[in-house]
Amino acid sequence: MMFTASAPSNIALLKYWGKRDAARQWPANDSLSMTLSTARTETSATIADRAVDGVVYAGNTLSETSKEAQKIARHLDRLRAATGRTGRLVVETRNTFPAGCGIASSASGFAALTVAGLAALLGTEDLAAHGFGLAEIAALARQGSGSACRSVTGGYVRWDAGDTPDTQTVQQIADADSFALADVIVVLSDREKAVSSTDAHTFAWSSPLFAPRLAGLGERLKRIEAALAAKDLSRLGPEIEAEALEMHAVIMTATPPVHYLTETTAAFCAWLRQRRAAGAFEAYFTIDAGPNVHVLTAPKDADLVALAARAAFGERIHAIIKDHTGSGPTLARGHERTVSP
Ligand code: PMV
Repeated sequence: MMFTASAPSNIALLKYWGKRDAARQWPANDSLSMTLSTARTETSATIADRAVDGVVYAGNTLSETSKEAQKIARHLDRLRAATGRTGRLVVETRNTFPAGCGIASSASGFAALTVAGLAALLGTEDLAAHGFGLAEIAALARQGSGSACRSVTGGYVRWDAGDTPDTQTVQQIADADSFALADVIVVLSDREKAVSSTDAHTFAWSSPLFAPRLAGLGERLKRIEAALAAKDLSRLGPEIEAEALEMHAVIMTATPPVHYLTETTAAFCAWLRQRRAAGAFEAYFTIDAGPNVHVLTAPKDADLVALAARAAFGERIHAIIKDHTGSGPTLARGHERTVSP
């Protein structure tokens, strides 16, 4: 029996950066994200009579010795350990957006793999009946990629670090309809990043800016939550811009330093601020561990922002993905092609 999960990506408004314990996937700080809708991963999983797991990515069968196939097989081992089931799986997965370019394919990828893999191992889409509710799914997804734990539900989602690795929690603080925002994702490069976020996380503690950052994050979280509760983009926007730049300041001042931002990223952010100041539209940027820019704006302004960006940056923009606040993963029996091949 085949099960297919479709899971959304998410964009962090308050970033997860740095880990207290890498082996237990225990983050240095609480983080908060908006679940997306268009940028997703669709993953099918089927029990198969084989000696090893099989992985088909974007229509191509991966060699079992490839880095990607091994990462997926390691995650399936976690799901087998959690369910007590031993079956090998064939997993078919594809993204709606370019992987490894700062649009967090690992978040949607590990959320979809966790949901589809659990369903296939348990032989049912009723995961909750087998003890896999939101908390358990989030805890498993996190082992694949930290930010994946925020893709297991929709709207605005907070991941609390807790006092110990085992007291981490993930909760939806507001649903997708409560405050709809557009995320105009401006892809300035679709090249794989030279340093993975997994590696760069471990450098965070060496930055002299990291301790002051951690000291101020509690207050910033409160301000971001208050802006979301008030549905106030004018209060939210400056907070998310400062937050993204602060995370990159830590990344750039760590040992070794990493530069995810490019000249075009910097030019784009300056341009956005200049257009905003001129009253062209109200839009704010945030940036994950890559060169691409997420522009948050009211849904009515998304087309205007995308057109203006194209006009100003032309060929320097590789692609624009118009996304918005979305709900959590879906799971179905069989193969629902919600993502075009
Ligand atoms: O989940 P990871 O290990 O790929 O870390 C990603 C961290 C950021 O995307 C930069 C921020 C976040 O909170 O998603």
